[in-house]
Amino acid sequence: MAPKTNGIGVQVEGTRICVVMVGLPARGKSYIAQKAQRYLKWLSIPAATFNVGNYRRHDSPSPSADFFDTNNPVGERKRRAAAEAAVQDMLRWFRAGGVVGILDATNSTKERRKWVIDRVRDEGVEVIFVESKCDDEALIMANIRDVKTTSPDYKGQDPEEAAQDFRNRIRNYEKVYKTINADGDEDDLTYLKIMNVGKQVIINRIQDYLQSRIVYYLMNLHIRPRSVWLSRHGESMLNLEGRIGGDADLSYRGDEYARKLPQLVLDSVGSDRPLTVWTSTLKRTINTARHLPPHYNQLQWKALDELDAGVCDGMTYQEISDMYPEDFQARDEDKYNYRYRGGESYRDVVIRLEPIIMELERSEDILIISHQAVIRCIYAYFMQKTQEESPWVPVPLHTLMKLTPRAYGTEVQTYKANIKAVSTWRGKGSTAKHEDPAPEGGV
Ligand code: ADP
Ligand code: F6P
Ligand code: PEP
Repeated sequence: MAPKTNGIGVQVEGTRICVVMVGLPARGKSYIAQKAQRYLKWLSIPAATFNVGNYRRHDSPSPSADFFDTNNPVGERKRRAAAEAAVQDMLRWFRAGGVVGILDATNSTKERRKWVIDRVRDEGVEVIFVESKCDDEALIMANIRDVKTTSPDYKGQDPEEAAQDFRNRIRNYEKVYKTINADGDEDDLTYLKIMNVGKQVIINRIQDYLQSRIVYYLMNLHIRPRSVWLSRHGESMLNLEGRIGGDADLSYRGDEYARKLPQLVLDSVGSDRPLTVWTSTLKRTINTARHLPPHYNQLQWKALDELDAGVCDGMTYQEISDMYPEDFQARDEDKYNYRYRGGESYRDVVIRLEPIIMELERSEDILIISHQAVIRCIYAYFMQKTQEESPWVPVPLHTLMKLTPRAYGTEVQTYKANIKAVSTWRGKGSTAKHEDPAPEGGV
């Protein structure tokens, strides 16, 4: 069993952080909150988001703009109650073992921020404010059109009228909004201020390792349109024998996939814009990339090498189950945490992939050619797969996957090369005869 460490290899024991979002509506607060939560959970750090708008909707499902006027006493009372309910739930969640709680609301006045600090610090939870400030009118309008007109607040309403009402809502907020430390009297707060999607950032009084990891991650986010393509290497000589690991050459069919990959990529990109290609340092991924156009930059990452099977490297699943029956069973019982003798677990792979994810967030179009377990871990990050699910996700050979991040969630398209290959997928309890097809519904 892998020791019970947290994902980023530091003791977070005792550290509890409340990330308090700040900013006018349609500034990407929920987007940032959801990304931070996904990243932390992928790293095994218990994280949850408490969205005040969701609490407010219990009572006021579709209020018009004047509800958000601070001179409206009913609106004020209900918004206060919603914030209180969200904070109470969050505190309960911290008491039950939560580590990073994200309070997703506008928190746009000094008074509200002071109130949150008082409530949360009483429980011994650190507070870090994350403000998104944006004055790019075109972007704000696009945000309203893309996510606000389809919000449950405007269910069944005309999108044009919804957009107009939302702009009026923003105006009401603008009357009282104070950016953090505008008057210099919030200098003692810990905060990250992201201006115009990271064009400028201000970092104030960041205290510990986990806070700085969160800040570093959020600083690297961008919202330019892009996709990430994922492919396993072409079928290898060891795949043909059902042997895991190693550094084998491609099979004849694997090489055929390598030759077909440029067209498959071109079809899925839909234009001749170049991609950057990341492979592992193993022959089978490098050779799978070798026919891609020369103007695609290529980079080899050790971090993209396949999960290290330690003493089992080069064996078939049958041989492993004969030689190490207890290990074989233990792996089935907890595949995410099982660490091969002298090798790695899925948890270990996620930890070494963290810089890859960080770099992916900073980058634009990237094609990753890697291996079954590694692709599963990257896929799990984008698709929010749990630790129970991710090590079992079918990732067939000779298939290209295109992941396109959207405002909420990731869109997946798959492109099959239609070149036969063995299946390397193994179901729980089996030793995988390699003629077994991966189940339908996989990626
Ligand atoms: P809010 O929670 O502030 O009301 P949302 O998160 O619902 O806003 O808005 C989502 C939209 O904001 C998405 O279309 C996303 O592309 C965009 N977005 C993400 N980050 C930012 C940012 N830092 N500044 C402005 N817009 C952003
Ligand atoms: O069989 C191909 C392979 O990439 C092996 O090298 C690797 O050990 C295995 O897949 C990972 O898959 P699983 O975790 O399902 O055994
Ligand atoms: C809301 O009600 O949608 C909301 C975000 O509330 P507040 O601005 O009060 O945080």
